[in-house]
Amino acid sequence: MDGTALILLLTFLVSVTGLLVFIWSMSNGFFNTKQSASHIIFGQNEIGLVEDPASNQTNNELQEAAGETDASLTQKELSDRLIADKSTALPTFVCLLTAMCWLIVGSAAAIIASIKLHEPDWLVSQAWLTFGRMRSIHLNSVIYGWASMAGVGVSLWLIPRLLKTPLVGAKFVYWGAIIWHVALMCGVAAIGAGYTDGMEWLEMPWQVDIFIVLGGALMGLPLFLTLANRKVDHLYVSVWYIGAALIWFPILFFIANIPDLHFGVQGAAMNWWYGHNALGLWFTPIGLGAAYYFIPKVLGRPIYSYNLSLLGFWCLAFFYSQVGGHHLIGGPLPTWMVTLSIVQSMMMIIPVFAVAVNHHMTVGGNIKAVIHSPTLRFIVLGSMLYVAASVQGSLEALRSVNVITHFTHYTVAHAHLGMYGFFTLVMFGSIYFIMPRIVDWEWPHPWMISAHFWLVALGFAVYFIGLTTGGWLQGVAMVDATKPFMDSVAVTLPYLKSRSVGGGLMVLGHLIFMIHFILISLRYGTKKEPALLIPIVNIPFVKEAKVAATELNRG
Ligand code: HEM
Ligand code: HEM
Repeated sequence: MDGTALILLLTFLVSVTGLLVFIWSMSNGFFNTKQSASHIIFGQNEIGLVEDPASNQTNNELQEAAGETDASLTQKELSDRLIADKSTALPTFVCLLTAMCWLIVGSAAAIIASIKLHEPDWLVSQAWLTFGRMRSIHLNSVIYGWASMAGVGVSLWLIPRLLKTPLVGAKFVYWGAIIWHVALMCGVAAIGAGYTDGMEWLEMPWQVDIFIVLGGALMGLPLFLTLANRKVDHLYVSVWYIGAALIWFPILFFIANIPDLHFGVQGAAMNWWYGHNALGLWFTPIGLGAAYYFIPKVLGRPIYSYNLSLLGFWCLAFFYSQVGGHHLIGGPLPTWMVTLSIVQSMMMIIPVFAVAVNHHMTVGGNIKAVIHSPTLRFIVLGSMLYVAASVQGSLEALRSVNVITHFTHYTVAHAHLGMYGFFTLVMFGSIYFIMPRIVDWEWPHPWMISAHFWLVALGFAVYFIGLTTGGWLQGVAMVDATKPFMDSVAVTLPYLKSRSVGGGLMVLGHLIFMIHFILISLRYGTKKEPALLIPIVNIPFVKEAKVAATELNRG
C-alpha cells in the first residue's frame, strides 16, 4: 500500500473513531446543550421581534406578517450590538465591495464561456478569449474573488455579533485584502496568458498561491483574536461552522498547492480531495453558518432544534472530508478509495436532513414573513437549494448514476445548484441584511431588490433545468455504443443555448445588484428615520445608542 492510500485509510479510521467518541459523549450527556443556547443571538426580551434592515419597515409589513409582539431590546443590548456592528463595518465593507467587483468580472467571463459553447467561432482571434481560458477565469473569479470574499466579509460581520465582542485586529483585514486581491489579479492574468498549474480549482500558479495563503491568513486572524476576547461562554452553532471553515480552508489550500509533491494519480486524488473540501469545508459551512444566524434572527424565532444543528455540524465535519474521490469514479484510483467516498457521500444525508428539518421547522408557518423579507427570500431559497444540491450530489455519487452524468453538463448544473443556488443566494441575502447596518442607510430602491431576486431565481431555474436535461441526454447518448460521439454533442445544443438565456438573466440581476450596492454605499436618496435599526424602539433611544457606540469605538 503506498503512502497516500495509507494516509487516507488512517484519516478514515480517525474520522470513524471520532464519530464513535462523539456519539458516546452525546449519549453520556457531555453535549447536553439546552435549547436555550439557541437564544444567545437574541436580547433578553427580543424573541418575537423581527429584524430585517432590507425590508420596508416604515409600514411594518414584516412584523405584521410575523405576528405582533411586545418584545424589545434594552438600551444596553442595543448599544452592544451597535458597537459590534461599527467595529466591523469597514473591514466587512472592503470584503463585500471587492467581492461585488469579482462577481461582475466572473459573470462577464461566464456569459462569454457559455455563448462560446454553442457559438464556437465567436471571439477566437485572441488566445485569452478562448473557451479554456475564459472558463478558468470565470471559475477563479467567482470562487476566490466573489464567493470567498463574500464569505469572509459576512463572517467578519457575524463573528462580533455572535460573540458580543467588537472585532479585534481590523487592520489585518485591510492588509490581507490588499495582498489577496493583488495575488488574485495576478493569478487571473496568468490564466489569461496561459500559465496555469493545470489542475481544476488549482489553476493559479503556485507562486501566486503563496500570497493568497498570506492574504487569507491575515484576513482570518481578527476572527480568532475576537474569539480569544469573546464575552460569551457558549459558542452558537454558526461560530462552529464559520470558525471551523476558517481553520480548514487554509490547511486545504496550502497542502494542495505545495509544488512538486503530488504526481499522476496521486495528483488527481489530491486535486479532488482539495476541490470537494473547498466546497464542503469552506463554502458550505460559511453558507450554513450564515443561514443559521439570519433565519432565526430575521424571524425573531430561535432555531427549532439546537441539538440537531450541532449534530449537523459534527456529521459534516466527519463525513465530508473524504468525499473527494467521488469526482474520480471510473478513474484509475484504487476501488476502495472511490467506494469510501461513495459511502461517505451517502452518509452526508444525515447532516443534510438535520439542516432541512431544522430550517423547515423554524420557517414553517411563517411563509408570509419570507415573502416580506428580502433577506429571507434569498436565504430560505438558498437553504432549500442546499438540500436539493446535496441530495442530488449523494445520488450522483452512485456508480450507476455517475456512469451517465460524469462527463456531461449535468455535473455543471449540479455545481451551480450548490455554488449558485445555495451559496451565492445565501450570500446575496446576507449582504442585503448587512449593508444597511454598516453604512447606516436604507437600500434606496426596494424594486431593485425584487428585480434582482426574480432575475436570478428565474434565470437560475432556466439554467439548471436546461442543463440538467441536456446533460442527462448527453450522458445517455455517450454510453450508447451504437451512436457516434457527435450525437452526444449535438443533442446538447438547445440546452446550451437555454443556459446562455438563463445565465444572461442572472448576469442582468448581478448588474442591478451592483448598481444598488454602489447606490447604498454612496448613501444615495433621502435617509429614512428611524434608519430601520429596530422598528419598534423609538428614535431618540436609537440615536443615544449610536452616539455611545461611536464614542466607544473612537476610544
Ligand atoms: C451531500 C452533499 C454532496 C454530494 C454527495 C455531492 C456530490 C458530488 C459529486 C458526485 C460530484 C461529481 C460529479 C462528477 O464529476 O461526476 C459533485 C460535483 C460538484 N459539486 Fe457536489 N455534492 C454535494 C453537495 C454540494 C454542495 C453543497 C456544493 C456547493 C457548495 C457542491 C458543489 C459541487 C461542484 C462545484 C461540483 C463540480 C466540481 C467540478 O467538477 O469542478 N456540491 N458533487
Ligand atoms: C456567480 C456565481 C457563479 C458561481 C459561484 C459559479 C461557479 C462555477 C463553477 C464551480 C464551475 C465549474 C463547474 C464544473 O466544472 O462542473 C462553473 C463553470 C461554468 N459556469 Fe459558473 N458560476 C457562477 C455563475 C455563472 C453564470 C451566471 C453563468 C452564466 C452563463 C455561468 C456559466 C458557467 C460556464 C459556461 C461554465 C463552464 C462549464 C463547462 O466547462 O462546461 N456561471 N461555474
